[in-house]
Amino acid sequence: MDKIFSGVQPTGNLHIGNYLGAIKNFVELQNNGKARCFYCVVDLHAITVWQDPINLKKEIMETAAVFLAAGIDPKKSIIFNQSKVLFHSELAWILNCICRIGWLNRMTQFKEKAGKNREKVSVGLYNYPVLMAADILAYKSNYVPVGEDQKQHLELARDIAQKFNYDYSVNFFPEIKPLIFGKATRVMSLRNGNSKMSKSDISDYSRINLTDSADLIYNKIKKAKTDSNEIMGIEALDENGNIKSEILYSRPEAVNLLNIYSALADIEIKETLQNFQGKEFRYLKDSISEILVEVIVPLGNKIKDMLEDKTYILDILNDGAEKARGDAEKNLKEIKEIIGFI
Ligand code: TRP
Repeated sequence: MDKIFSGVQPTGNLHIGNYLGAIKNFVELQNNGKARCFYCVVDLHAITVWQDPINLKKEIMETAAVFLAAGIDPKKSIIFNQSKVLFHSELAWILNCICRIGWLNRMTQFKEKAGKNREKVSVGLYNYPVLMAADILAYKSNYVPVGEDQKQHLELARDIAQKFNYDYSVNFFPEIKPLIFGKATRVMSLRNGNSKMSKSDISDYSRINLTDSADLIYNKIKKAKTDSNEIMGIEALDENGNIKSEILYSRPEAVNLLNIYSALADIEIKETLQNFQGKEFRYLKDSISEILVEVIVPLGNKIKDMLEDKTYILDILNDGAEKARGDAEKNLKEIKEIIGFI
């Protein structure tokens, strides 16, 4: 049976980029019913930069609440937090001994995150992609739904799996295939169409959080950056139906809003362009706000309701961890056998 694994970090407000680019797809994959799905709150990854302990607890609960509110069903999927299943850390060590330093040195996300501060960031931040490989491989997962920005990490996980198989002359780990979904895999900041919508952006107006009120949503969309031209038409598409790169480059904010609308309305970008071609941005903005309020406000209310019952969430996480342990233990046993541990 196919296995799907994905993880979300419990660091800060989850926003529509996380929902449209990741969590919504997790639900679809679960409901397809073709694979065993593991959806993990990756708290070990979160501490690669210091987290306030009280806040971390809160964020772990909130991320789990978002999973549940969005429709991830504990009867169909395995929902848990990473630190409860020790096998992730154990396998990460083993994979550390497979992964080469040169491979990690190529990771662009580390370079971006560490910046000029390279000597002062944690070893964990550097090592982050190996733990991610361990998350996936502890379950011998073969499909991983992620945003575009995680592609390089998945290629690394694939290289690690292959080198393990090669070094020990086994065919143990399967090939890891990324599942990168269309439309809104890259939801950009509402203030700057060239940077990703992010939970760590200092401006709250750069993103729509899943728990924002209707008023706040209207306000944020009203203030979202656009340009002074009218909305383009289907001439903006290339022969594959994607926005032409020169348009993406010259009108990133316009493209972002069009993408967000398409993802929320579940329609192709072409249809969105046909609907809004030649119009002023305020029409598109009104439509985005309306549909956001329709989709996000009920989701936000469900998240808040979920958080009223902490025991319910904790029970689900414990139960998920128990199931995850069962799968990982079996695989780790075989891995240790292959390596020659007694
Ligand atoms: N690095 C991922 C992110 O920030 C989160 C993550 C951790 C993950 N482990 C994973 C995603 C395993 C997919 C599979 O988005």
